[in-house]
Amino acid sequence: MKTIFSGIQPSGVITLGNYIGAMKQFVELQHDYNCYFCIVDQHAITVPQDRLQLRKNIRSLAALYLAVGIDPNKSTLFIQSEVPAHAQAGWILQCIAYIGELERMTQFKDKSAGKEAVSAGLLTYPPLMAADILLYSTDIVPVGEDQKQHIELTRDLAERFNKRYGEIFTIPEARIPKIGARIMSLTDPTKKMSKSDPNPKSFITLLDDAKTIEKKIKSAVTDSDGIIKYDKENKPGISNLLAIYSILSNQSIEQLEQQYAGKGYGEFKADLAEVVISTLTPIQEKYYELIESEKLDDILDEGAEKANKVASKMLKKMENAIGLGRKRRR
Ligand code: TYM
Repeated sequence: MKTIFSGIQPSGVITLGNYIGAMKQFVELQHDYNCYFCIVDQHAITVPQDRLQLRKNIRSLAALYLAVGIDPNKSTLFIQSEVPAHAQAGWILQCIAYIGELERMTQFKDKSAGKEAVSAGLLTYPPLMAADILLYSTDIVPVGEDQKQHIELTRDLAERFNKRYGEIFTIPEARIPKIGARIMSLTDPTKKMSKSDPNPKSFITLLDDAKTIEKKIKSAVTDSDGIIKYDKENKPGISNLLAIYSILSNQSIEQLEQQYAGKGYGEFKADLAEVVISTLTPIQEKYYELIESEKLDDILDEGAEKANKVASKMLKKMENAIGLGRKRRR
């Protein structure tokens, strides 16, 4: 069985973009792959986080993973900081990476633009992400489009390491969905829907209630020509809403265009709100059952234990290949 690894940062609310671009794929893929899904809390601290809020977000993300349908009997769910090999392997991969290639990462450029003080961690974020992936001999990394460049760098680092120190890493591939790889902001459809957007109207969170969802979709920015047609260039707002509708309803974009031919944006948006609400309601019910449960802790304990076994073995291989430490005594 091939191996899948992916991670999500617990750095705020989880959006419909995270669900469509990443989590929905995870749930589908877990039946056919050996899967590791991670709450990457060490990545989250590359920007300042409030201690209590971070703890809350970590737990909340764990509950959401399960609520959307990650099955702990099929997948390993764990918290990055509970598997020390990630930070250790991350350090080694920092020593393989070049500053120039890290500075070229668009996420680093976006997050550091205009800031006076930028943490070193923001720059060295991708080698830690590479460690996440490479420690598990991952074949496939399901992600949204914004992570593509990081996966390419991961491949480069793995190849560089293999060439220098011996073939120990599997070279992973990104798996990016055809539709929904980049869900856009509801208030500015030329920008990615992002949990760090200061305007909450720009995103739908997985825990938004029905009224809020209706309001946000109703006020989503579209255009004035009144035709429901997928045209990313000229009609980014409607195209984004069509993509969301298509994925959540399992109908093709063409089917939806036909269904709404001659109909207005109001009707389309009302129906879309219903589709989003009926997707999120059962997820929210499960979430609230899980969030305070001990079961959640049991699953995370078990996940950390499983992940630690695999990751520490690969870390040893890395250290051995490089010559760190001493030769083991029998
Ligand atoms: P993060 O936490 O920003 O996002 C988690 C996942 O959601 C996807 N995503 C989107 N997909 C479609 N439309 C959107 N608007 C949208 N916004 C976010 C992201 O592409 C991602 O798949 N660096 C990663 C976390 C990470 C990771 C890893 C991922 C750390 N280590 C190892 C894969 C493998 C990140 O910041 O994702």
